[in-house]
Amino acid sequence: MSEADGNGGGGVEPGGSLRRSVTPRPIPAAPPPGADPDAEAEGGSEEDSDMELLRNLLARTLGLGTEPPERVLDELSLAGIARFMQSERCRRVVCMVGAGISTAAGIPDFRSPGTGLYANLGRYELPYPEAIFDISYFKQHPEPFFALAKELLPGQLKPTVCHYFMRLLKEKGLLLRCYTQNIDTLERVAGLQPEELVEAHGTFQTAHCLRSSCRHQYDLSWVKEKIFSSLVPKCDKCQSVVKPDIVFFGENLPSRFFSLLQSDFQKVDLLIIMGTSLQVQPFASLVSRVPASTPRLLINKEKTGQSDVFMSLMGFGCGMDFDSDKAYRDVAWLGDCDEGCLALAELLGWKKELQELVRKEHAAIDAVAAPEDTSSASGGDPTSRRGRTDGSGGRAESSGASSEQRGDGKEP
Ligand code: OAD
Repeated sequence: MSEADGNGGGGVEPGGSLRRSVTPRPIPAAPPPGADPDAEAEGGSEEDSDMELLRNLLARTLGLGTEPPERVLDELSLAGIARFMQSERCRRVVCMVGAGISTAAGIPDFRSPGTGLYANLGRYELPYPEAIFDISYFKQHPEPFFALAKELLPGQLKPTVCHYFMRLLKEKGLLLRCYTQNIDTLERVAGLQPEELVEAHGTFQTAHCLRSSCRHQYDLSWVKEKIFSSLVPKCDKCQSVVKPDIVFFGENLPSRFFSLLQSDFQKVDLLIIMGTSLQVQPFASLVSRVPASTPRLLINKEKTGQSDVFMSLMGFGCGMDFDSDKAYRDVAWLGDCDEGCLALAELLGWKKELQELVRKEHAAIDAVAAPEDTSSASGGDPTSRRGRTDGSGGRAESSGASSEQRGDGKEP
C-alpha cells in the first residue's frame, strides 16, 4: 500500500504491493483465468500498468470515448442516495471500509490526531510510525509488532452498527462485496461470509512461517498463545519468525483483491465508502474504478478521497468531487459512521430492523463470552485502548468465539 499524501517517508513499491507513495499507481490486471487464486498476488507487469496509465491519460486528454456521464441521483444528499437505493437501478452495492468503522468497537484507527495508532507508538522507538507494519523493518525487528499485536489481536470485540448495516445490505440482496482494509475480522463476526469479503490488507486469522522454503501455516490460536506469553512466534519446524497473514508495507495484496475488483468495479451501481482516510494505495484508488455514472457515498468524520488539481493534470481526475459546481454523483455525509448508517437506514425504512439486529447479535456475543469470561481469551491489558466500551453497555473485548461458533472463520 502507499500513502497518497506522501507522509511516512516510505518508498514506492511496484504495482500491486502495499505502499506509501505520493501518486496512486494503476492497479495491475487480474491474473489470467485458471491462475491459482491462492497464489501470492501479482497481476500484470509494471509495463502493463504503465501502458494502461498512458492509454487513460491520452483518452482523457483527447476526450476520446468519453461521453458526459449520466446523473442518476435526483439530489446530492443522503436522501438522494436512499431514493436511488430504493430504485430498480441500484442492485449491486460495494462497500469500501477502513479503521473508522471499528473505532466504536474500541479499536483505534491509524491516523486520527491524538487517538490514532500512529500517534501512540512512542514506546516502540520506531524510525517512523509505519515501520511497525513495514516488512523490511519487521524482518529485522519483529518485537514491536508482536507487542502491539497483543493489543490489536481480534479479541472479544463486538461489530459496530456500521458492520451490521453491511450485513443488512447483504440480507436485502444488495451487497455485491465489502472491500475492507481492516484486519480485526469484525466483518466476519457481523455475519459477512468469506465470499462477500475482500480482506485487502489480510487477516490475523492465519499466519505463516517467514522462511520461503518452509511457509508452514499456523492458526490464530497458536499465534495468540505465543503473543500473549510475550514471545515472538517461532516456527516449530525451522525456528524462523511466524508472521500473521496481514499485509505489511512492501508486501503484495492478496490475489483475491486484484481478481475480484476487475469485475466488481465494472458492475457496481453504488459505492459506499466508510471510515477510511483513503491514504493508502492501492486500496484508495479503487474509488476511481467505478463507472462514471456510479454514485459514491462517503460516510466519514472528514472528507477524504477528493481529487486535486495535480492528480487531475496527471490524468488521475477521478477522485471524489463533493462540492464543485461540476459535482454530480458524490455525496459526503460527515460524522460518526454508526450515526451515518442509522440515518441512511432510517431513510430506507430499515432503522428498527438494524437496531434489532445489533441488539440480538450483541446479546449472542455476550452469551458466548460470559461463561468463558475474559481471563484467557482477551489476553488484553484492561488499561489498553481496546478496553473502551462499545456503547451498547458490553465490554469491547472478546475471543472471536462468535465467528468460530458461526463456523465462518475460514480463509476466503
Ligand atoms: P485511517 O486511520 O487512516 O483513517 C480512518 C478514517 O476514519 C479517518 O478519516 C477518520 O477521521 C475516520 N474515522 C475514525 N473514526 C470514525 C468514526 N467513528 N466515524 C466516522 N469516521 C471515523 O485508517 P484507514 O484508512 O483504515 O494498513 O488506514 C488504511 C491503512 O493504513 C490501514 O489498513 C493500515 C494503515 O497503515 C496496515 O497497517 C496494513
